[in-house]
Amino acid sequence: MVKKQRPINLQLQTIHFPVTAIASILHRVSGVITFVAVGILLWLLGLSLSSLEGFQYATEIMHSFFIKFIIWGVLTALIYHICGGLRHMLMDFGFIGESLLVGRISAIAAFIITAILSILAGVFVW
Ligand code: HEM
Repeated sequence: MVKKQRPINLQLQTIHFPVTAIASILHRVSGVITFVAVGILLWLLGLSLSSLEGFQYATEIMHSFFIKFIIWGVLTALIYHICGGLRHMLMDFGFIGESLLVGRISAIAAFIITAILSILAGVFVW
């Protein structure tokens, strides 16, 4: 029989992901984006090396805002993936421990470092 007085929590404002969960989800998402990006970047490299016309076309493509935005997004995903990856490795090798506090602090550190490097990547692309 179902307990009538069982606790329920449908107040959506009180339910939220912990910062470590967000860091983990973003690490997977950034890994998949990086994987797809390898194909796009290899295509662009192949195009630029194919001929003079190919190189000029690749240069032309790189002038468009949309492509610049994609490249910036790819760089940001790669930056986060590397920050998150280094965080995992520091924890796995036992350099910073595996406590919840370390997990939280290192996740926030990865976000802040990614934000700073992402701005620099934007300056580099534009
Ligand atoms: C072409 C470059 C890369 C691609 C396509 C890629 C892709 C991926 C993908 C798809 C995952 C699985 C994520 C998951 O299942 O949650 C992963 C995990 C991982 N990646 Fe990368 N990665 C790349 C480069 C790197 C680099 C440079 C580092 C080093 C900082 C790194 C560190 C890691 C680590 C430590 C994990 C395991 C995370 C865990 O245990 O949950 N990756 N990567």
